[in-house]
Amino acid sequence: MSTSDCQPAEYITPAESEVVYNRRIGPGWYVLRLREESIARRSEPGMFVQVLCSEGESFDPLLRRPFSVYSTDEENGTYDILYTTVGRGTRWMAALPDPETAEGNEPPARVDVLGPLGNTFTMPKGDETVYLVGGGVGVAPLYFLALRLLELPDPPNIHFCMGARTGEFLQGIADFRDLPIHTRVATNDGSEGFHGFVTDLFLELWKEGSSTAGVRVYGCGPQGMNESLRNLSVDNALSCEICLESMMGCGFGICFGCVAPIRKDTDSEFINRRICWEGPVFDSRLLCPGIDG
Ligand SMILES: Cc1cc2nc3c(=O)[nH]c(=O)nc-3n(C[C@H](O)[C@H](O)[C@H](O)COP(=O)(O)OP(=O)(O)OC[C@H]3O[C@@H](n4cnc5c(N)ncnc54)[C@H](O)[C@@H]3O)c2cc1C
Ligand code: FES
Repeated sequence: MSTSDCQPAEYITPAESEVVYNRRIGPGWYVLRLREESIARRSEPGMFVQVLCSEGESFDPLLRRPFSVYSTDEENGTYDILYTTVGRGTRWMAALPDPETAEGNEPPARVDVLGPLGNTFTMPKGDETVYLVGGGVGVAPLYFLALRLLELPDPPNIHFCMGARTGEFLQGIADFRDLPIHTRVATNDGSEGFHGFVTDLFLELWKEGSSTAGVRVYGCGPQGMNESLRNLSVDNALSCEICLESMMGCGFGICFGCVAPIRKDTDSEFINRRICWEGPVFDSRLLCPGIDG
């Protein structure tokens, strides 16, 4: 499946996932490991799951919350979500009992999850140097992509750039540092790594290292970062795909709550397209300069 495809309708099947662990990795940051064989088997980098963050008959909050798949373990039928607490849904997730630390013999909690949904990143060509540019929880799909790239028979040279406001928001970075890739960080206040925006760090690294040819860029982050990456990749004719993490309703194409002006191809006009269904991964040339997603 590529950036231009979306999943067939039969993929929209809610399934109960069992909580394997729910580990706090930093202030307000967690990794939730869930067991559900079919989601673990079908997930690809860029895809997301829709988590029902309520129990029993409460349906409050009503709308499921979308989360990128962070990694999978097909052998054990598990998949991970890297998340940060921002509101009711994610606080509900943080309160899920962690079987690894729970006392007593309570059975593991179960969570109602829909997915995997959405499209995936396109794999690079054999000799391309890969740059992964991420901000905040946007690093989640990039980590999964890095794992998949490293599984290729001849893995590419991979540079990962992560940005955050300050050093304390660089969560998930330890997992990247454990991989055989080049990892650099940027903070807005200079408290760790490069002083400035992650897109400036990327531009500096790219200018030092490569020509336009043979470079593949993948990005995911907050709107400002995505916008800046879109603009600099188009201006420099860099091959780039961006995963948009916009607000969503249904997550599978029926409510039109996630539309943004996105072209079908580089010669066409901007039209409203569904980020959940035609995306969330798009070629940067198809996005409008002030990305609305
Ligand atoms: C495709 C996709 C993948 C995502 N992947 C991840 C992930 O891997 N890890 C992760 O932590 N989060 C991810 N998100 C964002 C996550 O879905 C939201 O943080 C979550 O829905 C917030 O739910 P809540 O009930 O806790 O907060 P709410 O109470 O709904 O909102 C709290 C605050 O967060 C803001 N907010 C809510 N949703 C979003 C959003 N999508 N983008 C920006 N601000 C938002 C609201 O405006 C509000 O200010 C992803 C979103 C999308 C669309
Ligand atoms: S969230 Fe409903 S159509 Fe995209």
